[in-house]
Amino acid sequence: MIIERAGGKDLPKNPIKGEQFKMIAKTMMGLEEVLAEELREMGAENIELLTRAVSFTGDMRLLYRANYSCRTALAILKPFAEFEANSTDELYDQVYRLPWEKILDVDGTFMIDSSCSGEIFTHSYYAALKTKDAIADRFRKMFGRRPSIDTENAEYKFNLHIADNHVTLLLNSSGESLHKRGYRQGVGVAPLNEVLAAGIIKLSGWKCDCHLMDPMCGSGTILIEAAMLANNIPAQYYRGDRFSFKRWKEFNLLDWKSVKEEENRKIGSLDFEYEIWGNDIDMTVLQQAEKNLEYAKLHHDVMLYHGSFVDQKPPEGRCIIITNPPYGERIKVDDLNNLYEQLGSTFKHLYGSDCQVWLITSDFEAMKHIGLKPSKKIALLNGSLDCRLLQFQLYEGSPKHTSDATD
Ligand SMILES: C[S@@+](CC[C@H](N)C(=O)[O-])C[C@H]1O[C@@H](n2cnc3c(N)ncnc32)[C@H](O)[C@@H]1O
Repeated sequence: MIIERAGGKDLPKNPIKGEQFKMIAKTMMGLEEVLAEELREMGAENIELLTRAVSFTGDMRLLYRANYSCRTALAILKPFAEFEANSTDELYDQVYRLPWEKILDVDGTFMIDSSCSGEIFTHSYYAALKTKDAIADRFRKMFGRRPSIDTENAEYKFNLHIADNHVTLLLNSSGESLHKRGYRQGVGVAPLNEVLAAGIIKLSGWKCDCHLMDPMCGSGTILIEAAMLANNIPAQYYRGDRFSFKRWKEFNLLDWKSVKEEENRKIGSLDFEYEIWGNDIDMTVLQQAEKNLEYAKLHHDVMLYHGSFVDQKPPEGRCIIITNPPYGERIKVDDLNNLYEQLGSTFKHLYGSDCQVWLITSDFEAMKHIGLKPSKKIALLNGSLDCRLLQFQLYEGSPKHTSDATD
């Protein structure tokens, strides 16, 4: 069969063993640097920080490793085509000319996620639709039939990224988002995204070298991510083998198994000798935390307490406190302001100078009621919620603040 080709770029060949290629790791706003550090430790090269993403180079083994072990990545993408398009018709033509049959099976399934910025392409859904049509039309012309769309469980997940007239097509090697670790058996009212929880722990500078406590732990996301870190358990240890790259034509089972074994061999290699404690006022969410911990076989590593944080002293010695208080969707404003006031007072009177507190919230009004001056403020996004991660360095007689914590 002759492949019609009138412009656009051919796809790069499947990488041969050890060949380096470019990858993009997607993350959440504010976690780019910690993700870059994780990738650097895994041997990634040519690392560049992007917006909510990090680009890097490496081989297929690094693609497997980043998927399996990166705690702060949402997905690992492999760019495979770049071109310019100044209209949706041009986008259709360029996409049509790419030899999709080298990637996709005619009987396979695919889906397209899209993001557009600039003035040419203003509707990302429409751009994705045009792209899908071009792929389907090419297959229909060549084979008389086409791969199907599957928005739930597609074999091939493509990302279409358009900035002005610059179009990039990427293959999502992860499939389902990497925040879905597989340990969650029960979900609290407002569980923290696992990638965000891991990112906050890394931003706090916790190096498994002191105790860690979450006084409002809910379903235990921060505690589980901390315990996984302390035990050197790969981020996707509980996920099973649900990765899109396993369905790729170029997938190498032996390499994947050996990367996994290398990563699993590190489990328990840190001599962690500190306490990880959680506390919550709500018994139902605590039971969910317990279920999650039991599933992850981390229930012996984490102590859970029931009650208000006002009565929960941290473990003796140096302790990092990381917490995610309610933001107020279900709580009256007065009660919430009062809760944040109690938090400030607890930090000041119950926690000693050995404690450093990190608190993430999107409630900028309630935040002012903590009454302590944060020593650091980091902007983060939790889904679409604009959040601040505040650090409170405690010392005897912590001063009352005068300025707005959201400054
Ligand atoms: C936003 S949720 C935390 C979610 C948690 N990070 C997770 O991933 O599941 C806030 C938690 O604060 C708890 N909470 C509210 N008031 C409390 C109090 N006075 N003492 C302890 N916990 C409290 C709630 O029960 C809820 O589980």
